[in-house]
Amino acid sequence: MNTRRIRMDSHKIDRTALRQAADLIRSGELVAFPTETVYGLGADAMNPEAAGKIYKAKGRPSDNPLIVHIACYEDLLLITDQVPLQARVLADTFWPGPLTMIIHKNGSVPRETTGGLDTVAVRMPGHPVALALIAQSGCLIAAPSANTSGKPSPTRAEHVSADLDGKIPMILDAGPVGIGIESTIIDLTDDIPTILRPGYITRDMLESALCGEVRVDPGIVVSEHGETVGEGARPKAPGMRYRHYAPKAELTLVEGETDCVVDEINRLVSEIKSEGKKAGVIATDETKSAYRADHVTSIGARADEEAIARRLYQILREFDRLDVDVIYSECFDTPRMGGAIMNRLKKAAGYRILHAEAKN
Ligand code: TXA
Ligand code: MG
Repeated sequence: MNTRRIRMDSHKIDRTALRQAADLIRSGELVAFPTETVYGLGADAMNPEAAGKIYKAKGRPSDNPLIVHIACYEDLLLITDQVPLQARVLADTFWPGPLTMIIHKNGSVPRETTGGLDTVAVRMPGHPVALALIAQSGCLIAAPSANTSGKPSPTRAEHVSADLDGKIPMILDAGPVGIGIESTIIDLTDDIPTILRPGYITRDMLESALCGEVRVDPGIVVSEHGETVGEGARPKAPGMRYRHYAPKAELTLVEGETDCVVDEINRLVSEIKSEGKKAGVIATDETKSAYRADHVTSIGARADEEAIARRLYQILREFDRLDVDVIYSECFDTPRMGGAIMNRLKKAAGYRILHAEAKN
């Protein structure tokens, strides 16, 4: 299959291209499109065959449900018989935006879309091209991230091409995304609203919008050794249970005071070099020049957590093209999005984390 990549200006949408993309969605085909978080791979959410094609193109396990993307609040009534009050409040506060809600589904949502569950994930994306595509197609659009299963989510159309060229008919390319990590997922089907995946919208933001307690799924609170802890230790979102992206080179995270981290990483790099191997480092603008590795990449200024989130997946993809055997990364426990950033980075590292101690 020939994949057409069409460049789109988010602020001046090409109506002809948009119509072609919408026609494809309506006829049960796949279109990759930008959202504010990551690129999505879209299909008509109410068409089981179309949703089925998503799993095939991504190589995604069929029990991992999709997120239904809507363009107006009323569309919620097409997929559920009762909109919880909390969903109304959160939609008012955060939509369009990077928040996915899990609610009970009605009979119209095919099992292909929800991976056989009786709940459905839904979000209204905050990207003009995504909203225009949903509206123009007249469909609700089921869309996971537009990567091959097991790769980092795509933050640029080039990443989608690298994974899916030849497998889908069209990619709408509106340049790099704004946020760079996937939406926060909140489950509203339990007594207490529960975060199933951390993201740009934090627990604090959700608690203040709801004026009440929000839990974090114990299944995603993972110990340093990669073991789940606490009750109900299996993550509730099926996608959070799968083995995640691991770069080809072995990635190890080093945590601690910045100076100690730099010293420890340099020590590890010398060790690796003495074995005749090559090392890469994920640093920050502040520390980049302090490392003596074969490849040193800065993720951005330490204080700019939005830039860190935006560059994370791109850097992980870049390292796969470089000739290194091991990668060491600093930790980015930034105040607001640190939880979400470290959730993705720890998974990529297979939970290999070292603590750098101060030497005196
Ligand atoms: O930012 C995003 O959410 C992006 C953009 C494209 O919107 N989408 C995305 O989709 O990240 P995906 O498929 O890569 O991740 C969806 C996650 C998976 O972990 C899946 O298991 C979970 O949502 N999920 C979907 N429906 C669910 C449900 N009914 N109950 C629990 N988890 C669900
Ligand atoms: Mg994904």
